[in-house]
Amino acid sequence: MTITITDGQKSLECAFTEGEGLLTVIKRNIHFNSPCGGRGFCGVCQADVKKPGRDDFRPELTCFLKAQDGMVVRVRSIHPADS
Ligand code: FES
Repeated sequence: MTITITDGQKSLECAFTEGEGLLTVIKRNIHFNSPCGGRGFCGVCQADVKKPGRDDFRPELTCFLKAQDGMVVRVRSIHPADS
């Protein structure tokens, strides 16, 4: 199962296992701020998310969502997590 992370220019296919949180998957692959640690009150982890079966992106707190196969997450820029 994979999600796609894109900044509009580059895209990354990111594997995950069932039940993983979206924020966890994003942070394993790119630098991505989450000051409150995924507790849902900083709002910084917001990204535009297109869920499987939908054609529109909607702003979502990524720490509130489970990763779903085929999900697309649009972020401002992609910097690999290990750079
Ligand atoms: S990480 Fe703070 S609201 Fe999601």
